[in-house]
Amino acid sequence: MRYTIRAILSAATLAGIASTSAPAFAADEVNIYSYRQPFLIQPLLDAFTAETGVKTNVVFASKGLGERIAAEGENSPADVLLTVDIGRLDGAKQLGVTQPVNSDVVTENIPAQFRDPEGHWIGLTNRARVIYASRDRVDQDSITYEELSDPKWKGRLCTRSGQHVYTIGLIASMVAHHGAEETEEWLAGVRDNLARKPAGNDRAQVKAIYAGECDISLGNTYYMGKMETNDKEPEQKEWAKSVRILFPNSDDRGSHVNLAGIVLTKHAPNKDNAVKLIEFLTSAKAQEIYAETNFEYPVTPGVAVSERVQSWGELKPDSLSLSDIAENRKTASELVDKVGFDDGPAS
Ligand SMILES: [Fe+2]
Repeated sequence: MRYTIRAILSAATLAGIASTSAPAFAADEVNIYSYRQPFLIQPLLDAFTAETGVKTNVVFASKGLGERIAAEGENSPADVLLTVDIGRLDGAKQLGVTQPVNSDVVTENIPAQFRDPEGHWIGLTNRARVIYASRDRVDQDSITYEELSDPKWKGRLCTRSGQHVYTIGLIASMVAHHGAEETEEWLAGVRDNLARKPAGNDRAQVKAIYAGECDISLGNTYYMGKMETNDKEPEQKEWAKSVRILFPNSDDRGSHVNLAGIVLTKHAPNKDNAVKLIEFLTSAKAQEIYAETNFEYPVTPGVAVSERVQSWGELKPDSLSLSDIAENRKTASELVDKVGFDDGPAS
């Protein structure tokens, strides 16, 4: 028996997952499972509904959504899954919960390098994993990921967990460039430069720089915009003022980027509307919203990076292929455990 949307969404609400409810059998709707936080995607969904009349229902969770779709099987109400990072896009394909999107609109809007060759996932935005550096305590204007293991940074570096998808993606790119052995040595060096045990999100590390606990941190680019414009928590504007962004490896291979994107689920009950949504998210209009509201890098050619994002400096993206990164994720995760990265500095 197919679950009703209302039942699923009520269960999600009871489980403490953010959701917006909708009539159970509304004809024109699309059900979105999202790893992306509701505040990030709502402006896009509002624009989609205004243009198409299709209602959107969102179930948000920070983990386990691919597995949930797999467990729900044919009864899953999910039409699409919105994710961050190639690891989760590719992970959904590996779980067998996706189906290919056959759409000329998508093929035309998204360059081949940002979509699965078989159409199982579609990239929507790029984000760079950069260094946030204290304006007061860091003089240099350029940096590399490699030098994060240099003892000159001892006790000065803050980051979130080594096992977070963003960190894994970066370490996987190091494995692709340098091999596992050299990356292990590097990672142990980075660990010994940590000011504290990895904890908290990317913004918490910038807060720590503001508070003087560390001098540099790893973080995704758009958080700078989210802090600079945060009227709800204006103290974040102060955190942002205390740092500037350094784009690592600008003088050689470029900075590590991670791709956020979408998949169409295997048993999407509202497939037509789901494809409509995917096509909309690849349109210039949606890509502009991503650029202006979310401070991300659009993937659709011809859509400009926002002025605010440009003000942080120029991004030269590492041209490593997404499959090379996806392939090395497992090794990266094993290295994080092997060097005890999340335990903090050895001495
Ligand atoms: Fe994020």
